Amino acid sequence: MRPPDRSLLPSSRGFAMTGSDDPAAGIFRVTPSSIDPTLFRQVLASYPTGVSVITALGPDDKPVGMVVGTFTSVSLDPPLVGFLPDKKSSSWPQIEAAGRFCVNVLASDQQEICRRVSAKGPDKFAGVGYDLSRHNLPVIAGAIARIECALHAVVEAGDHWIVLGHVLGLEVTRDDDPMLFHRGRYGGFAELA
Ligand SMILES: Cc1cc2nc3c(=O)[nH]c(=O)nc-3n(C[C@H](O)[C@H](O)[C@H](O)COP(=O)(O)O)c2cc1C
Repeated sequence: MRPPDRSLLPSSRGFAMTGSDDPAAGIFRVTPSSIDPTLFRQVLASYPTGVSVITALGPDDKPVGMVVGTFTSVSLDPPLVGFLPDKKSSSWPQIEAAGRFCVNVLASDQQEICRRVSAKGPDKFAGVGYDLSRHNLPVIAGAIARIECALHAVVEAGDHWIVLGHVLGLEVTRDDDPMLFHRGRYGGFAELA
């Protein structure tokens, strides 16, 4: 068997960052493209997401957290979930330092919590009800599910990090509709007829 070609991107067999095209070998050079940032945001905003709050306990035992639309299920065996914090986030380094986090999936009636926790500032959790779990993680009252994780891996991805968490425990905490986010607007779930 031929050794792997180190000039190939690890995740995209057949595409090389450098060198020339070699169609016979199935290698096509990737040219860094200049995508207009406004277009990028506009098109990617077409994809709707759920809304979750990632929480952890800070060094002074106060909750820290951030709102994410990038939460996703990753793997069943082992049980992994993920989300993507911006490198500019001031909350992510505190969550990373805690070494574990809780994903709180917001219900459609929790917009005020979303507004407070997505604001920058020291007192994001003022007026936000929560309990501490047996893993010592803040679980937001009224969220529809909680997924508690140990930090598993952090992978660099452009101006964001890809964070993977190993699930320690999880529970549906309320039988209600999730909050959804689409093109800058919040909404709820409506089943098709
Ligand atoms: C609906 C919604 C989804 C968001 N998704 C993400 C996300 O996936 N990753 C991220 O880094 N920030 C996301 N943000 C922004 C953060 O919630 C927050 O504004 C940012 O982390 C700034 O606060 P910080 O400096 O305390 O982290 C989202 C905000 C909203 C309202």
